[in-house]
Amino acid sequence: MIEKDLVAAPGTPERALLETLDLGRLPRHVAVIMDGNGRWAKQRHLPRVEGHRAGASAVRETVETAARLRLDALTLYAFSTENWKRPKAEVSTLFALLKEFLKREFRSLVENDIRFRVVGRADGLDPSVRSALATALEATASCRGMVFSVALNYSGRAEIADAARALARDAAAGSLDPETIDEDAVARRLYTADLPDPDLLIRTSGELRISNFLLWQIAYAEIHVTPVLWPDFRRRHLLEALLDYQRRERRYGGVAEEDASAPGVPPAPAALGA
Ligand code: FPP
Repeated sequence: MIEKDLVAAPGTPERALLETLDLGRLPRHVAVIMDGNGRWAKQRHLPRVEGHRAGASAVRETVETAARLRLDALTLYAFSTENWKRPKAEVSTLFALLKEFLKREFRSLVENDIRFRVVGRADGLDPSVRSALATALEATASCRGMVFSVALNYSGRAEIADAARALARDAAAGSLDPETIDEDAVARRLYTADLPDPDLLIRTSGELRISNFLLWQIAYAEIHVTPVLWPDFRRRHLLEALLDYQRRERRYGGVAEEDASAPGVPPAPAALGA
């Protein structure tokens, strides 16, 4: 049961938004491309890392709200394989913020029954980061509420390549007949194997790009792009994104129900002179 008062206090604009949501039709999995930290800092004449610091607070509020709405899964894109190209100091601040976040939020993750995960090539991360991640993974392993995944050292293409390698290995070992490889076989070898595909993908800061995020999984996701920069993203913005999602008609390549019953091909015109 969703406790509305925990999501938004009565009488607040957030509560008004929450009341317009159909709580029986929330997306199961929401994925977010957090963007705009650098621009947020620039607007305030602050170093870029201050944007990331403020971004970590937005992470906290988003995770808490998503868990209180009882979503099955929330996946946040925190660090792509391309982000290594950023200045060294920025990269180390990002990972320091992640470690700080895990240390600070660790108890609240457990209390809120949130299972923490990492998607991406975690073996490419610094041992101190891996150890902080392992602690959070272990501590929340028995949690049964929302799965909160952070994409780190993540690339959608690399993920698909990793799945292809796993398929090839299984085929070479004789445990998989190549002729039986179907979409499910690929999906079972992705980092998100046991999660539903995202129903909703949110991107902040107004950019209209997918940026190599969950390429396979977002095949049918609804996309919500907001001009809000990530550090400013609050509960209200998540609720707005969910409302936008509920206004969409999901057809998965089919047709709307009312059109399905209508004749698809207009009858051929009668032959001239017939
Ligand atoms: C994109 O903004 C944001 C990132 C690359 C990093 C996101 C990281 C955090 C919010 C901090 C810590 C994360 C967790 C999970 C606690 P950008 O720097 O590309 O912004 P710009 O496009 O305006 O330059």
